[in-house]
Parts: sequence; C-alpha cells; structure tokens
Amino acid sequence: MNKRATGRATGRATGRATGRATGHATGHATGPTPPPPEGESNLSPRRQAWGGAGLDAATRALLDEDSRYFLHQSLSTPCLDVVRKAEGIWIEDMAGRRYMDFHGNNVHHIGYGHPRLVAALKRQLDELPFAPRRFTAEPAIALARKLVEITPEPLGKVLFAPSGSDAIEIALKIARAATGRFKTVSFWDSFHGAGFGGASVGGEATFRSGAIGPLLPGTEHVAPYTCYRCPYGYKDIDGKPDLDVCHMTCAGFVGYVLEREGDVAAVVAEPMRAVPYFPPPGFWREVRKACDRHGTLLIFDEIPSGLGKTGRMFACEHVDAVPDILVLGKALGGAAVPLAAVVARPELDVSGDRAIGHYTHEKNPVLCRAGLTTIEIIEDEGLVDNARTVGARALERLNEMRRRHPLIGDVRGLGLMLGVELVADREAKTPANEAAEAVLYRALEGGLSFKLSMGNVIALTPPLIVTAAEMDTALDILDESLAAEETTRS
Ligand SMILES: Cc1ncc(COP(=O)(O)O)c(C=O)c1O
Repeated sequence: MNKRATGRATGRATGRATGRATGHATGHATGPTPPPPEGESNLSPRRQAWGGAGLDAATRALLDEDSRYFLHQSLSTPCLDVVRKAEGIWIEDMAGRRYMDFHGNNVHHIGYGHPRLVAALKRQLDELPFAPRRFTAEPAIALARKLVEITPEPLGKVLFAPSGSDAIEIALKIARAATGRFKTVSFWDSFHGAGFGGASVGGEATFRSGAIGPLLPGTEHVAPYTCYRCPYGYKDIDGKPDLDVCHMTCAGFVGYVLEREGDVAAVVAEPMRAVPYFPPPGFWREVRKACDRHGTLLIFDEIPSGLGKTGRMFACEHVDAVPDILVLGKALGGAAVPLAAVVARPELDVSGDRAIGHYTHEKNPVLCRAGLTTIEIIEDEGLVDNARTVGARALERLNEMRRRHPLIGDVRGLGLMLGVELVADREAKTPANEAAEAVLYRALEGGLSFKLSMGNVIALTPPLIVTAAEMDTALDILDESLAAEETTRS
C-alpha cells in the first residue's frame, strides 16, 4: 500500500509539523534550556522567518517535504535552504542564489567538486569500488602510508572510520587497552561527535543532556581555555591571557585533575577549538608534561583543524606538543565522502586480539582514494601556505573592523579558522546573540554563509582554496551586515 495515501502517515507527518517546535520546547521544559552549542539554532523566530518569506515556493515545498520525512533534530532538520550545486567555494540553492561557503562544516578544504578529485574517484569506481574487510587494497595502504609520512613523529599506525565520532571512539578504545584505565578528561563546551562516546567526552548539553543519557562512566570534564571569557575569572588583555596573573590556571587544573584521579586513561581535546578559541602559549606543553607524569595519553581531535586549516598541516604543530593519538576527519573525505582516521604511536598497537574499529567501510578504496587525492591536492596546490597568508590578511582586516564596529568584542584567528565575537557591551562582554543571528541572516542575503558558534561567535572557516580577493568580498559583506545591524539598533 502506498504509505503516502494512508491517514497514518499523514497523521504522523502532521504531528511532526505542528509538534516540531512544541515537541522540542516540551523536551527542554523539563530541564534547563541548554546553552548555545557550536552551531546556530534551527528553531529560532529568525530562522522561521527566513524560511517563510525569503524563499521561493518550489524551495519551500522541498523544505516541507524534507521536514516531513526526516527525523527532526536540533542544528539540522528543519533545514535552512536546499542546495542544488556546490563548486569551489560556492554553494547554490534551487533559485540560483549563490553563497560563498565560509562554513562548509570544515569539510571543503580543497573546495567542492575539485576536478582532480572527481576524476580520481570516477577512475577508482571503475577499477575497484569496494574491498571486503578481510582484504586490503592499494589505495587504503597508500593513504595510511601518506598519513604516517605527514603527521608528526612518532605517530605511525593508522585506522580508518566512517565518521569523526567513530574515530574518537576508536581512540578511546585504544587508550583503554593501552593503559588499562577507562577515565578521560575533556573540556566542557567541546564537541567530539554525536555518538555515545563522542557525546560523553564532549561537553555540549545539546548532545548529552535530557533523555540522551546515561553516557560513558568516568568522563571527567574541566573548564576550557577561553581567554576572552576566562572561566576562572581572570581578566584578559585584549583577548590574550595575562599569564603573570592567571599563571595558566586552566592548564594547571588539567594536571590537578589527573593527579587527584590518578588513573585517567586519556585527555581528549582539540588543540585549537573550532569555535574558534586558541590556547594560551605553552598550554599544551604543560598539559603534555602532566599527561606524561600521570601515565595519561593525549588524544588530539583535529577533525576540523587538521590538514592545513590553521596554516600548518596540523594545529598541533603550532603548540609544541605531539599527541599519542591524532584524530582526523571531515576534510579528509575531500567534501565528497565520509572518512576519518586515527593515527597513533606504534606502541599503542596493542589490540591485535580485539576489534576496535571493525567498520564495514574500513578500507573502502573509494573513500581512501578520496583521502589520498585530497592530501595530494593540498600539497601540490600549496593550500596550507594559502591558508596562512589569506588568513593573516583577513585577521588584520577583522581587527581593523573591530575598531569601527562596537558590536565586535573580540577577533581571533589562525590560518582560516577565524572568529568574530559579538557583544552588546564591550566592558561587560554581554554576548550579543540576537545581533549575531541578525548579522548571519543579513550576510546570507548578501551571499555569505558562515556558522554562528556558541550563540554569538561568527566562525569564518572558508575552504583553503579561497583567494585574497574572495576573502575581501566576504569581509565586505560581513562589514556591511554589521553596519546595517548597528544602524538598526542605534
Ligand atoms: C571537533 C570535532 N570532533 C568530532 C566531530 C565529529 O565528526 P563527525 O561529524 O564526522 O562524526 C566534529 C564534527 O563536527 C568536530 O567538529
């Protein structure tokens, strides 16, 4: 029977359509409203208005169908718009409206639809589309070798996974097996994936609270490094830490917890948080030493920051600390396929008699070809250098904008991981969540897409192929959107 014709399906869909907002609201009404996550709300009145008035009828019809058939969840469905084409730094919607994609979930380092990647994937599909797990395949071995070559010494053994969240869990399993311990220390507010393992070490209420638990036991959390809003109450100097006063309490506290617990398997963290937030100088050196003192492994989640985003191939190369396990994902799949990787010290190869990442697509030749070709493109086109130079110029310009725009409280950036934090009052640093959302929708109207992080941080993460001229155009749109919003509010 055609399900569409049955009242039951219609009933369910209707229930969704009306229950969507109230359903979510009811869920949260039983507990406190979660703080803003690392992504903007898909339920806000501004989002509803954008979907209601700003889109053509055909797009609205598709969005309604999307909303009818997909399970609703915070941060994705109901969706913003419908993408018809993705090319280079651009995405295009059904009505032909083009956005410079300065969000891209950090998957699009080489740009969308890179011709060399598309050709390599077509060839790979013709030659060998899949390898059952008991076999290996040349592209898988070549990608593993490449990752060992480009990651810092002594990282030397690899396992692939279909998502970053799964790769984080593999890293946790390796840490358990190698240390005989199960506890972890990670940061509040962090995101490490939507699965139970990732959500347990992550620190965002959207992914861990309410009906989602219970989570993994032993996942301790500490306050993150966020110098502009130091959780320990120390004042910053223009966004930078005053180390003579704070003595890097945030790093000291990680060591304190490791000592008090005494049996922590691993510290799990992004070396640079994708919000973005950057650690105080020497932070990771301190934490690395504390890990070594207490027999704890250091797991760096470079799922968004790896493969050149920060102007070096890996963010950890900026911070003078090599992890025991490095986790990559997102851009590794070339903005075409899902692929993540764990790269570990060879001594951590201790689970030969257990299955720690036995995923169906573990050595899928098409996915691995995507990873290998993506890295080759990043290397051959000098994209890491481009991220560094275009990013440095953008940072200068954002700092200049900060002098003109009272809404901008702080500007942070390294390479093409850039952030502009909006505040209602520079002295009190009151987060300007409302204004940030308004700026986002103004910028979208101007043709620029970016992510709002933590409610009030404009996160600009363009592909590594972005040119200086394109960056200028994007910053012009942001500049105008900020000015327009400030005029409305004055
Ligand atoms: C820091 C970080 N870790 C882990 C993940 C999870 O990756 P995936 O969505 O591929 O599971 C993400 C994804 O946004 C991330 O930003």
